[in-house]
Amino acid sequence: MKAMTKSPLQIARANYQPKLPAALKGNVILKEGAKTESVADQADIKNLFPNTFGMPLVTFEPGEKKENPVVGVGVILSGGQAPGGHNVIAGLFDGLKALNPKNKLYGFLGGPIGLVENQYMELTKEIVDEYRNTGGFDIIGSGRTKLEEDWQYDKGTENCNKLGINAIVIIGGDDSNTNACVLAEYYLQKKTGIQVIGCPKTIDGDLKNEMIETSFGFDTACKVYSELIGNIQRDANSAKKYWHFIRLMGRSASHITLECALQSQPNICIISEEVEAKNMTLKDVVDEIVKVIVNRANHGLDFGTILIPEGLIEFIPAMKKLIAELNDLLAHNDDFNALSTDEEKRQYVKGMLSKDSSDVYRILPKGIAKQLTLDRDPHGNVQVSLIETEKLLIEMVAKRLAQLKAEGVYKGKFSALNHFFGYEGRCAIPSNFDTDYTYSLGYTASILISEGKTGYMSSVRNLNAPATDWIAGGVPITMLMNMEKRHGKMKPVIQKALVLLDGAPFKYFAKYRENWADEKASYIYPGPVQYYGPTEVCDLPTRTLMLEQEK
Ligand code: FBP
Repeated sequence: MKAMTKSPLQIARANYQPKLPAALKGNVILKEGAKTESVADQADIKNLFPNTFGMPLVTFEPGEKKENPVVGVGVILSGGQAPGGHNVIAGLFDGLKALNPKNKLYGFLGGPIGLVENQYMELTKEIVDEYRNTGGFDIIGSGRTKLEEDWQYDKGTENCNKLGINAIVIIGGDDSNTNACVLAEYYLQKKTGIQVIGCPKTIDGDLKNEMIETSFGFDTACKVYSELIGNIQRDANSAKKYWHFIRLMGRSASHITLECALQSQPNICIISEEVEAKNMTLKDVVDEIVKVIVNRANHGLDFGTILIPEGLIEFIPAMKKLIAELNDLLAHNDDFNALSTDEEKRQYVKGMLSKDSSDVYRILPKGIAKQLTLDRDPHGNVQVSLIETEKLLIEMVAKRLAQLKAEGVYKGKFSALNHFFGYEGRCAIPSNFDTDYTYSLGYTASILISEGKTGYMSSVRNLNAPATDWIAGGVPITMLMNMEKRHGKMKPVIQKALVLLDGAPFKYFAKYRENWADEKASYIYPGPVQYYGPTEVCDLPTRTLMLEQEK
């Protein structure tokens, strides 16, 4: 292995010992809790998952020492990077070795495809030590291949048998954990003896329910973006000449945008879920932005910040319908793919859409319309991170302001800059919270395996409390599932957790946003993630988690 050149912080972080829930520090005993049901569509989910539906919640408590047979475990990193992935692997490794030093951990390379193609490496102590407490997924790489066909599962069985692997841990978001659940069920039906455990990963923060309080990576990513937003706000407040339109990652839900707003208090923050609930059009969104810009201009303030969630356009009802039609139309569409020019593609799409959607498609700026038809991801979704909504909004806002200027209503000067923050945060060195949380998730996965569980997701709760008081256990993945249309067919999938408009984080934002918008504003400058120093600076969870758990 080629040694990395390390920064002083990396060297210091290598010696950090992540905190574990007290119950995991010695031998543990498993306690079964209540039986579970799927979040919706119980009959369909039960029918599709006869072996893994309705399993009980489990938690771990201190217990007696036991003999643990030797096991081989394969781990997969799936989907987009999120800070802390390496520590899930470190926690899993340490947990397995504590159970039985002869246990072995293999990493499948490049995401789920590694399992099918038998691309793997054994993860030794030397390798794992090199990656402890670091950001990134580069230890084994990640990928977005979807495991959905029997031959892939059977190849997986064959490859696991060759390596002596009894359990697979899939570290991923909602789609990847859906795959984990399908795989667990298949392996039970085929009596392969291979267990499958999921771990909740995604910076988007949309893989959660009452047993999964947050997905890992959300904390660090939001802190990184909030630092950048704060820096921009200070620049805006100093130079006083630009409106900054800042789009933030988060494929669908607006959790990242909301959390960053809570941390930085921008002038405007759009929450997609609210846009959808109020049935707003693109024009309505533009009018809201324009109202604030005009008001600030009337006070001589031609600058400010606007946060825009990456998934916004999918929540504008007419756009949502258009995107759903495009997802169905373009999934594996050879006729479309065979067309060579943009114009041919545009004409083809217009001809195939319903009248309403075709009308919406027609009035979009050509660049945005094209972005909507670019390559789908392997799950069939439009790649929203490629759609430059912030530029679309700047264009529309500028147009409207020009009209208002002509009418004498607006007297300011509008100069806008656009930003997109996503990749800046996905591989950041994990915050103390994510460092401890991910290590605990990995450690918990090792115990779920030793307890013979399959179809479970690693669950660590009570996250607003100090780590020693966290509650570790497992949640049946079927509990998070419902039926949704994918590629034109109804499929069992984990339901994405969207921002709840009656939840505490949104309510807090809604209560204060007018104060942040007006001429007085009240920017917060959060500064960079801190790893060393006072606990009230270094160990804070997200504002979202704090508000959600406030008694
Ligand atoms: P996951 O759901 O796989 O964790 O990925 C989340 C995400 O970071 C989204 O916020 C973003 O839309 C997407 O990945 C971008 O992924 P890619 O770089 O593969 O296009």
